[in-house]
Amino acid sequence: MQAVDVKGLLERHRHDPTRLVQMLREVQAAEGWISPTRITELAGALGLPRARVEGVAGFYAFFATTPVGAYRVLFSDNITDRMLGSVALRERLCAKLGVGPGEVRADARVSVAVTSCTGLCDQGPALLVNGHAIGRLTDARIDLIARCIEAQAPVEAWPPELFRIDDVIHRKDLILSSSLRPGEALRAAFARGADATLEELLRSGLRGRGGAGFTTGEKWRAAKLAPGPTRFVVCNADEGEPGTFKDRVLLSRYLDLVLDGMTVCGFAIGAQKGFIYLRGEYLFLQAPIEAALAARRKAHLLGRDVLGHRGFDFEVELHLGAGSYVCGEESALIESLEGKRGIPRSRPPYPVTHGYLGQPTVVNNVETLVAAALVTVNGGAWFAKHGTAKSPGTRVHSVSGDCARPGVYEFPMGLTVQELLDACGAKNAQAVQVSGPSGTLLGPAEFRRKLAFEDVATAGAFTIFGETRDLLDVSVNFAHFFAHESCGFCTPCRVGTTLLKKSIDAIAAERGTRRDVKVALRLAVLMRDTSHCALGHTACAHFLALHEKFKPTIDRRLSSLEFLPTFDLDEALAPAREVTGRDDGQAHLEDT
Ligand SMILES: Cc1cc2nc3c(=O)[nH]c(=O)nc-3n(C[C@H](O)[C@H](O)[C@H](O)COP(=O)(O)O)c2cc1C
Ligand code: SF4
Repeated sequence: MQAVDVKGLLERHRHDPTRLVQMLREVQAAEGWISPTRITELAGALGLPRARVEGVAGFYAFFATTPVGAYRVLFSDNITDRMLGSVALRERLCAKLGVGPGEVRADARVSVAVTSCTGLCDQGPALLVNGHAIGRLTDARIDLIARCIEAQAPVEAWPPELFRIDDVIHRKDLILSSSLRPGEALRAAFARGADATLEELLRSGLRGRGGAGFTTGEKWRAAKLAPGPTRFVVCNADEGEPGTFKDRVLLSRYLDLVLDGMTVCGFAIGAQKGFIYLRGEYLFLQAPIEAALAARRKAHLLGRDVLGHRGFDFEVELHLGAGSYVCGEESALIESLEGKRGIPRSRPPYPVTHGYLGQPTVVNNVETLVAAALVTVNGGAWFAKHGTAKSPGTRVHSVSGDCARPGVYEFPMGLTVQELLDACGAKNAQAVQVSGPSGTLLGPAEFRRKLAFEDVATAGAFTIFGETRDLLDVSVNFAHFFAHESCGFCTPCRVGTTLLKKSIDAIAAERGTRRDVKVALRLAVLMRDTSHCALGHTACAHFLALHEKFKPTIDRRLSSLEFLPTFDLDEALAPAREVTGRDDGQAHLEDT
């Protein structure tokens, strides 16, 4: 570990408080934690209240405000990692190194803990060591990691094979078979003009691939028409939904298409600046992205008068996240880009009118931007010919779990669940989780349903559970994920995710009763209906679906079907209702 040169750090980041998360990332990487001294120094130098810097340092999971091991090992704890044996591998590493889970070894050399999904579900189990991803863990690789740590070898000097990340592509369609040259979409946009480029995008019917499915052309038009002296384009490369990794592949193999899409957006809406918000887990993409940006500047694809087009200046800046799932939510992402904690904003107003620094901002998913670049070259009608009427184009799926060929598959929108199961060699699937823990759990009776916005909407994750899996274990994993990732801003989600986790844990440990299930369901509905942002709205979807579609999975773990506790929590909360003057249905834990 090396003490950070704070003066140099501040200069590199232009003394710009919006770069605070990036500065803290550098302090963390250099010194292994963010000490109170550094917090005071940065606050003073940036003219920020100390509490603000401390709040940011405390918000992001990758920042440690108390010392951790010189080698900080974080095992990816997605359900697919667990299905591939991550728990035993973690225990093995802990035993080899003589350190307890979640602890720092007495000599401060190493700590071993868990983190949320690292986006390597097709090549898990995975871990991060000092932020660097290692996948395809086996006993032999764990032993090698332990040896490197004991030898105190710098992570950069570890065998490069450990850090190899594969882009596993099994099926290509419009996007993945594209051979557009860097700048081709931009030239097409210049030839057409900004308004006609926007018209073409509207004609394509392209809908955002980040989950909500908002029409991309309408989003761009709203930002273009919104008043404001300046506008911004943000590429959402946070990809935090467990089970999703297709954006990693797009950024690794199709980066110029992503950058073309961003620049076309800048041209169409009149923006001069773009950001890529890259999840911290994809640190290995930082150097290639910086290199691609430098190459584009050299080729006049970025900078002043892009490609000689007078008056169109466009720059792109890379910003890395620091281990926060909620920062994928567009308004939380913008807060993070501004150097703050990633707390979702109240909406409206939406980012298209009040986004980065209060200015009109388009936030688009990586895949959306790639599709927009293709539309710009090939036209809206070409794109709309593929997929379904309500969901034009193709979809890139991240397939993981119990199948022969995990990896990335691109298919036209409207593919059925069964067709994707067949393509990836999944036999005897008991269930599929579409779109990650916040998405939809489907049983075999629904495998004929279509993966499209009008039927099963998806942000691209497709996780398969074979017939031998216990789906309650899946729900336990998801409940822990949401309790960990809740930003804590609003009470229904902050308290609800923890209570739900405890209830599901109790059921899984065979200590639960029917009443626990009832309370969990009531909580789930309360969170869905009253949380501040979509994280809280969807955090309980997995348990509601499990109860609706796989009830015996829950029932067989109940210790008693009939037991009723003597303590009535809802009754105990009556004084609180009286004080707040609320006695409506939602003020009750349970309708009794
Ligand atoms: C908790 C949460 C996490 C999200 N994570 C991502 C993400 O990692 N990537 C993404 O593109 N969209 C994510 N979204 C959706 C974004 O808020 C936003 O809708 C999307 O980036 C818009 O891009 P699109 O129009 O191209 O789909 C997330 C939403 C929520 C509520
Ligand atoms: S719903 Fe959860 S993640 Fe969203 S603001 Fe509330 S506490 Fe934060």
